[in-house]
Amino acid sequence: MARLGLETTLIDGDVYRRTLARCREAGVLLPTFGALKDPCAIPAAITERLADVDPDAPHPLNLFRVHWFNDASRRGRAVTPGAIELTPELTGSRARIVLALGERFPMIRAHKVLAAYGCLAPRVVTGQFDPTRHRAIWPSTGNYCRGGVAISRILGCRGVAVLPENMSKERFEWLEDWVVEPSDVVRTPGSESNVKEIYDACATLERDPANVVFNQFCEYGNYIVHRLCTGAALERVFYAVAESRPRAKLAAFVAATGSAGALAAGDHLKNALGARIAAVEAVECPTLLMNGFGEHNIQGIGDKHLPLIHNVMNTDFVIGVSDHATDTLMTLFNVDEGRRYLIQRRGVDPALVAQLGLFGISSVCNIVAAAKLAKYLDLGPDDVVITVATDSAAMYGSEVAKATTRYFGNRFDSVGAGETWGRFMAGAGVDHVLELSHVDRKRIFNLGYFTWVEQQGVSIEDFSARARQAFWDGLLDLAPAWDAMIERFNAESGVAARLS
Ligand SMILES: Cc1ncc(COP(=O)(O)O)c(C=O)c1O
Repeated sequence: MARLGLETTLIDGDVYRRTLARCREAGVLLPTFGALKDPCAIPAAITERLADVDPDAPHPLNLFRVHWFNDASRRGRAVTPGAIELTPELTGSRARIVLALGERFPMIRAHKVLAAYGCLAPRVVTGQFDPTRHRAIWPSTGNYCRGGVAISRILGCRGVAVLPENMSKERFEWLEDWVVEPSDVVRTPGSESNVKEIYDACATLERDPANVVFNQFCEYGNYIVHRLCTGAALERVFYAVAESRPRAKLAAFVAATGSAGALAAGDHLKNALGARIAAVEAVECPTLLMNGFGEHNIQGIGDKHLPLIHNVMNTDFVIGVSDHATDTLMTLFNVDEGRRYLIQRRGVDPALVAQLGLFGISSVCNIVAAAKLAKYLDLGPDDVVITVATDSAAMYGSEVAKATTRYFGNRFDSVGAGETWGRFMAGAGVDHVLELSHVDRKRIFNLGYFTWVEQQGVSIEDFSARARQAFWDGLLDLAPAWDAMIERFNAESGVAARLS
């Protein structure tokens, strides 16, 4: 699987030496996967220097903030990852629904910068990416390409964002500020679910040997970094929740899937705590539920195909959530009238309501999916459902405005608020919840054949190996091998000694 980022040996010595020189000159030290999993392993000298670094600047030391343990200021470190537990007054569910906050990640305020690093770092230390000559191509529906562009800036190379033209205005504004040249933002036709068009653009770009594509949908670095780092972080979140509730049990991990990177944390949580794994998609594009297709507005997920790095045979549920629910709940959570309703009519703690802006559209989708799963499984107050808030509402102000027009005739009042909460939160039902049988899993697994073997040229053997759990568990062996290479790279660049 040479194309899939699985190498652990040096591929091109000249590329490696030029990259070393670039990192030496730019002062770039690469964090190990181990340090991003447990930031206590970050050398004290780096932690001290970080205190003076703006978390939103393209500063090399911000690579050491690409983890879940940033504190609320995003400058310092917390013992437990930032997370918010929702109350039954808000969700209408008795289960404990807890979201870990992607908003605390540096530069892009979303955890997708972790995926970008997980795909890039192995290529750098194996001499497959040359920041002095290559352009890094980041195919994405919005956040992964921002993470990639941010890291490309740190390496002093061109980073190219390939994303659908209909993604939110805020994403394009961010990209315009960060890319080296305006042409480094490539807009592909369509919206969220038009990933095939993204692949086509990448195939064209890849004909130029100066372009290196980091395809999050098939780079195993994405799976590995999430299983290790996100998995361990969410385990810590669970223990923090369980501290005050000795009978707490992790019932499930729920994640709306785009590349299925974050979903890999489920493989860790299933091993460590017995959690069931639920993959979530938009009802309007029911690819996992019914091999379906369609347009939707849950930005970042539901890409009308099955990512190669999705461990389907270990997935327990598929849950469909409508973008009607997420668009209107985003309005409820982010408009004064909606917040007032939640506090005055539903009795939601104002402190919790004040934090609802930390949830972007896919986070709201995860909340609804968690409530649906809790209903399906009859979960109670001892049951914890953990999920992620990949990004915050900051990227979606324009989408809230559109939803207010589309669903509420430009006026969101207490009636609209009551309808929205009653229909989509309290009323979150067990429709579109599929508990996967072995045959269901095989049906979804087989669907991937058409993208990966027929269109993208993955061999049948490499494709089929993914049906065995041993294959996925074996991938974890790559992390220590890459970490050893990262440490050697840092020593050879001389930056480790300079910063110690
Ligand atoms: C906002 C948002 N939510 C969810 C996801 C899905 O995460 P993953 O690609 O890890 O499945 C993405 C991916 O880009 C995203 O940008």
